[in-house]
Amino acid sequence: MSDFVRVMAVSDLPPGQAAEVTVGEEMLALFNVGGTFHALSNRCPHRGGPLGQGFVDGSEVSCPWHNWTFDVTTGENTASSDMRVPCHEVKVEDGQVLVRIRDAGAS
Ligand code: FES
Repeated sequence: MSDFVRVMAVSDLPPGQAAEVTVGEEMLALFNVGGTFHALSNRCPHRGGPLGQGFVDGSEVSCPWHNWTFDVTTGENTASSDMRVPCHEVKVEDGQVLVRIRDAGAS
């Protein structure tokens, strides 16, 4: 399992916002939901849209390309629980957001 990697300061991503961040060779979508951070793979399972550029409403993000919607806390598609974007571990330490990539297959 990989180590936690610092991706940004807590103050760089206000509540209700999303950002794209890079951890190793992975592009991730990072979300601040009411002060709690969540990380998903950035690639939408439909056609690869960048979820970190999506519209955030509460704990849901809409893909900017064709509007599929995902729960950022679980990665689950809101219309089909069979479809899910990989979730990654997030923690906050000393005002910094750190992310650890989960191994493929774990969610
Ligand atoms: S690429 Fe995300 S909804 Fe189509």
